[in-house]
Amino acid sequence: MPFIDRDFINDLPNRVDIVGLINKRVSLKKAGKDYKACCPFHEEKTPSFTVVPTKQIYHCFGCGESGGVIDFIMKFDHLAFVEAIETVAGESGISVIYDQTAKPVDSRFKRYNNLMAELSSFYQNQLKQSPAKKKVVDYAKKRGISGSIAKRFELGFAAPGWSNLFDNYKSSEESIQDLVVMGMLVSKKDKENDYYDRFRDRLMFPIHNTKGNVIGFGGRVLSSKDNPKYLNSPETPLFSKSKELYGLYHCRKYSRRIDYILVVEGYMDVIALHQQGITSVVATLGTATTPAHLQVLSRSAETIVFCFDGDKAGRDAAWKALKTSLPAITAGLLIKFLILPEGEDPDTLIKRESVKSFTNRVKESQTLSSFLFDHIKSEVPFETIEGKTLFLEKTAALINLVTYPIYRQQLIEGVAETIGQNISHVEKAIEQNTLNEPPVFDGNPYEIDQPTNQPYRIDIKATSSSSMKSLMSRMISCVINYPSLVNDPESSSVIEERARRLPKSDVLVELIRFSQVEVDLTKEALLMPYKAKPRIYSRLEELSVLEPFLSEYEAKEEFSYALTAAEKYYERKSTKASISSAKTYEEQKIVMEKIMKGKVNSNSKKKN
Ligand code: GTP
Ligand code: MN
Repeated sequence: MPFIDRDFINDLPNRVDIVGLINKRVSLKKAGKDYKACCPFHEEKTPSFTVVPTKQIYHCFGCGESGGVIDFIMKFDHLAFVEAIETVAGESGISVIYDQTAKPVDSRFKRYNNLMAELSSFYQNQLKQSPAKKKVVDYAKKRGISGSIAKRFELGFAAPGWSNLFDNYKSSEESIQDLVVMGMLVSKKDKENDYYDRFRDRLMFPIHNTKGNVIGFGGRVLSSKDNPKYLNSPETPLFSKSKELYGLYHCRKYSRRIDYILVVEGYMDVIALHQQGITSVVATLGTATTPAHLQVLSRSAETIVFCFDGDKAGRDAAWKALKTSLPAITAGLLIKFLILPEGEDPDTLIKRESVKSFTNRVKESQTLSSFLFDHIKSEVPFETIEGKTLFLEKTAALINLVTYPIYRQQLIEGVAETIGQNISHVEKAIEQNTLNEPPVFDGNPYEIDQPTNQPYRIDIKATSSSSMKSLMSRMISCVINYPSLVNDPESSSVIEERARRLPKSDVLVELIRFSQVEVDLTKEALLMPYKAKPRIYSRLEELSVLEPFLSEYEAKEEFSYALTAAEKYYERKSTKASISSAKTYEEQKIVMEKIMKGKVNSNSKKKN
């Protein structure tokens, strides 16, 4: 992803027409100098969403959502920061100025992207043209996939045969190598330069990233005699199962408004639900839900509904998802669970019952806390005193994973009520539990090619004022030890932008930039520029000791947790609190203007 010039980013909001851009999405009515509409971010009957053109901001007095034009487009179009900048500029007829001094985008990625797009077309053509197409067309019909849905998801056919791809690309050595890197060709054992096609005789599902690029494939066998039933692309420079979600691109593209996102288990579930008009649905790619998935999901919707099969495997998977969710819960994020009747998945269920009864199931899905309590109750002899004690111990360990104070408190109250004890007793048990054992995460149920070591968890006390500082220190430690964390050309500019928006992030941002200048930078080389600033230098040296030691994978996870936690902390602190303290409309308006000024100031201060 190219870097966008910093001054360009800072100036853009002043150069565009916020009213016009928002009015394209939400119909605005003039109200004095301002504009009003019913808020697109929450349900309401009377308009409290206001756009103030003189300040270039919007604000909703109903739900507290506020920001500038870029924030609005990010939220409304479900885009990442850089994508939102490009959209706003594009719709305003302004060309984006890219930072010429930044590291150029690795040209390999362009090649990989083009190649994968080409392969997707290749497989789609095979669906129409292959001499063997009859069986795949029959299969798709048997599964009830309509032509238009097949087109929407760009379904294709990898024809039978070991060398269809190879034959098609054999004239270009570079393409063959790229196909190997993309996992589409596999080297034959002990034979150099001899390859076979990974996907043969399968219905092909291209996997898109949120920008709509094809980054991998899943392929399903056409006959139950063949196996494995599904084959997925391996991990490649474009594709990481622990980050990507099947259908997220289509969810954003085809959902007018995303009230909730359903997380299902399979490709076919996503497709079957789309066909019935339920478009806010994604599937994990044969892995358990990861923290990275949750992070992406929580940016797309305020309610996440995990939907699992009612069998043992499904219940286990739901429980894993619950444990992964606990540390991710923050203000405004609701996580629910929908356990389907045994033997059903969304694909079979939506075909058997009406859309209405399916969506009713979603509406009535269980809250995280109720699922948590029920599950633990079922694991202990709850009617006995010993059982209640066990219940308390087990819930305490889980509550300790929750960092969001309000939710933590609600869970504590829930436990107290469930076992008929007073709150302070429960609080004590939880405190005790922290001393006994650090929270442990178990591994990933399905995936074998995922690292099994779990990230070290930071204990984020989201309320303490030192937390931002310690999160910042943690991020800096990770970057100093593993500069490679932030020089991935696909994500580094996004990380840099996110870091830039945090208060007092100058050093972190600098380190991220330095890390991108060269690959495999040593710690010493990274800190070199600070030699002239002894105070910063010695602090950075302190931070370069990673305590406890983390592997690169763990450090990457940790960095991403810390970044998200810092963002949420800052966001909550800087907006919601002051808005809710204002009582009248005029007061609210003043507060809001102050907040926006603060944002602008801290942005321009950080320009360096
Ligand atoms: P259908 O039988 O086509 O309806 O599949 P499903 O979507 O109901 O599949 P299932 O519940 O068996 O699996 C859910 C998801 O797990 C699939 O979409 C795949 O991503 C993954 N999966 C299933 N079987 C395999 C397998 O044999 N290997 C791998 N790697 N992944 C699988
Ligand atoms: Mn199925």
